[in-house]
Amino acid sequence: MSVLFLLAFCFIRTVSSSTSTQRYDSIYSFGDSLADTGNFLLSGALAFPVIGKLPYGETFFRQATGRCSNGRLVIDFVAEAYGLPYVPPYLALGKGQTSKHGVNFAVAGATALDAKVFYDKGIGHIMWTNDSLSVQLGWFKKLKSTLCNSKQECDNYFKKSLFLMGEIGGNDYNYAFFVGGSIEQLRALVPIVVDAIVAATSMVIEEGATELVVPGNLPIGCSAVYLTLFQSPNKANYDQNGCLKAHNAFSKYHNAQLKLALEKLRQKYPHTKIIYADYYGAAKRLVHVPLHHGFSSGVVRACCGGGGPYNFNNSARCGHTGSTVCDSPSTYANWDGVHLTESAYRYIAMGLINGPFTSPSLKRLRWHGSNDDDYSDGDGGSGVVEVRMAVVVWYYCFVINCIIITIVVSSKLQQKVGNTIVASSKLQQIKFIETITLADHQNQSDKEYSSFDYYKLFDIEGPNPHLLSNCEATDHKEYRVFFFI
Ligand SMILES: *[C@@H]1O[C@H](CO)[C@@H](O)[C@H](O)[C@H]1NC(C)=O
Ligand SMILES: *[C@@H]1O[C@H](CO)[C@@H](O)[C@H](O)[C@H]1NC(C)=O
Repeated sequence: MSVLFLLAFCFIRTVSSSTSTQRYDSIYSFGDSLADTGNFLLSGALAFPVIGKLPYGETFFRQATGRCSNGRLVIDFVAEAYGLPYVPPYLALGKGQTSKHGVNFAVAGATALDAKVFYDKGIGHIMWTNDSLSVQLGWFKKLKSTLCNSKQECDNYFKKSLFLMGEIGGNDYNYAFFVGGSIEQLRALVPIVVDAIVAATSMVIEEGATELVVPGNLPIGCSAVYLTLFQSPNKANYDQNGCLKAHNAFSKYHNAQLKLALEKLRQKYPHTKIIYADYYGAAKRLVHVPLHHGFSSGVVRACCGGGGPYNFNNSARCGHTGSTVCDSPSTYANWDGVHLTESAYRYIAMGLINGPFTSPSLKRLRWHGSNDDDYSDGDGGSGVVEVRMAVVVWYYCFVINCIIITIVVSSKLQQKVGNTIVASSKLQQIKFIETITLADHQNQSDKEYSSFDYYKLFDIEGPNPHLLSNCEATDHKEYRVFFFI
């Protein structure tokens, strides 16, 4: 008798607030408009002056802060999760002033490659800023002398810092696409852009960073600006979510190259934690099941803009005459056609912090990392392995011919020993099972298990290879494995 359907579920209930433990003392960030908390505005924002006015910032800060959104960005949610202040823009620091909890060097419009590359190609005039990654690294080096002196002192300080290396690289492609570059031409640019990101990451490691997050590119084919500029009457150019297939494939190509390069970097610097942040996967999931995540107004149409099928009009961009703002930005994922709303950034940030959109997981970092003194769990921290609760329940369900195994692992168990136990035996099986049966699973789940949040577990484009680490990254886990026989 062969096994026909094998299904896996895992869903997450938060039983305790876990992130109250401060794992980092500071955050350092590099990047572009996805991460800029004010540098571009402070540098003059000549190319994008509306960023200094409402409706930018209307939802959270109630004033324009220089963030390219209606509210907080991923970096703001990360800071909140670790109990740190919002990361101040570097250009807001006075002469000789410093900020022990971290500094943000990201600048809207910035590229991974030097501005000179674009000027040499004759497209420099469309750049918003010359403050590319290497300029931002220069700022970091300059600031470093105000943070610590000896190598020892710097290493100790940066050991407790989280470094966000982007998102960066998106604009290198944007500029090239917007002046008419073809996808084929742009593919040639990918290795150079990836090299620049990896070189910057190596550099901050050499300066003392040990924990770094390197985000990939968003699915640009789902962005209102791309959908407007590359509109096509050919339905075959669009996927089932209305996104441009070729442009999304391009983002995936960049991400795949970046991931390969990061793997090499991990081998070169085994003492560091280099985390890939899957912005593509996070945004794609929103696109696939928007209602599931509260995005009732859809995800491709911009909240703020000057009309057109995606509410993006280059002659009346958000904030300019002729544009309007939607009433409830929280129901939109796209803010101004180019950037995302606070709700979309929150979704991405939570996916980074709690899983499943980081590998290895951000939250689990310290547990597996230095294993040092600063891991504390409120009432624990002694280093003694303590199993608080582990329940394994077997149900035999004769009606539908299946066996359900439920494994509940409490927070304590998971943090101290869960990864080992679970990963070694049961979950290996689940991994296998889950890889072969997704299609059947989806049909059945829709019908029979609709209360399960199974989209959290499975990548829409195939089984999520990180399923298991995702589960492990939560406080309280429950795995249900359905063996249909
Ligand atoms: C960037 O650099 C170019 C060439 O050096 C210069 O012409 C341009 O004005 C600069 N742009 C900005 C925004 O500073
Ligand atoms: C775009 O904005 C311009 C300027 O406000 C306007 O004339 C034009 O009709 C708009 N296009 C669309 C498609 O709404």
